[in-house]
Amino acid sequence: MNFRAYSRILDLLPPEFLHQLFIKLLQTKILKKKVIFDNLKINIFGKDFVNPIGLAAGFDKNAEVIDGALNLGFGFLELGTVTPMPQIGNKKPRVFKIPELSAVIQRLGFNNKGVEEFLNNLKKVKRVNNILGVNIGKNKNSKDFISDYKFLYEKLLPFSDYITINISSPNTPGLRDIQKKGNIEKLIKNLSAIKKRKPTFLKLSPDLSEENFSNICDLVIKDDFISGLILTNTTISRDSLYKKPVKNSWKLHEQGGLSGKPLKDKTNMLIKKAFSLTKGKIIIIGVGGVSSGKDAFEKISLGASLVQLYTSLIYEGPNVVVKILSELSVCLKKKGINNVSDLVGKNISYD
Ligand SMILES: Cc1cc2nc3c(=O)[nH]c(=O)nc-3n(C[C@H](O)[C@H](O)[C@H](O)COP(=O)(O)O)c2cc1C
Repeated sequence: MNFRAYSRILDLLPPEFLHQLFIKLLQTKILKKKVIFDNLKINIFGKDFVNPIGLAAGFDKNAEVIDGALNLGFGFLELGTVTPMPQIGNKKPRVFKIPELSAVIQRLGFNNKGVEEFLNNLKKVKRVNNILGVNIGKNKNSKDFISDYKFLYEKLLPFSDYITINISSPNTPGLRDIQKKGNIEKLIKNLSAIKKRKPTFLKLSPDLSEENFSNICDLVIKDDFISGLILTNTTISRDSLYKKPVKNSWKLHEQGGLSGKPLKDKTNMLIKKAFSLTKGKIIIIGVGGVSSGKDAFEKISLGASLVQLYTSLIYEGPNVVVKILSELSVCLKKKGINNVSDLVGKNISYD
């Protein structure tokens, strides 16, 4: 029986309970799938990645399963979102699986144990050959979002390889407004006053207006504080959902961010747009609906240097990472591309 078949049985259990089980399983470190593909090694912001496929933010919100997640074959992990103070998040149920569409709708609301516990966990990890990003967000009740981001940035900087400023989760009221002209400039100005730096990324929403998207692309080129963009977070749009009948169609109307397959085309379009607007001068991390080597190939070909995933782990199981890596590696060879870095932004079709 493959994981998809198991997954249908597991669908009967509450998604958050399953997530906890998965975390426990990974903590045992029994799932060791590390494999090296020479043509997938890539150097980005001066760091050697064993491969460009990373774990997206939201899976390991408290940095509690780092070694176990790396054992799945990921080239890097993005931990968090972490907030300064612990938060319980929104009322349950708040995660809804839509298996027919390989999608999830969730409104967790930055449930996490706060930065102190996050940092304690991070400090316990042996830092050899692993690349760890941290994704930071403001507390729901924070009166001053800038001081939340500054506090987290300074605190986590010594223990991370890169920092993601999350201003795009749809489940924290007002968070996405930070992306608007005026607010984003103010945030970057305050953060760039910090003396020390790490490669820093802005994670954007796929629902941004054209104007705000172009403004951020301009800003990233002009300002040397931001290394690049993570495209994208989940969407509040449901436009892509009604092509296929769904058993429990009430779920489609649940509030929250949609991830998985229905998000793929939108994120691809935005990666292409950002690559073109910035003339390939910034680092793009592509995320949204990646579950195969082809999906990863497409995002890289459109301009992403690195790729992340979350939802496909839920539907395809822990083997999905190695499956993606081997498919991507084989495809590069077939196309006569020596190394994955030679594919970035080349607009080569997979088929
Ligand atoms: C259950 C769940 C929780 C998430 N939590 C976060 C989060 O805390 N911070 C964040 O930046 N993105 C979060 N995301 C968004 C993912 O990092 C990713 O951007 C999005 O799901 C698209 O990728 P995917 O289609 O591979 O899941 C979450 C996604 C899911 C499904």
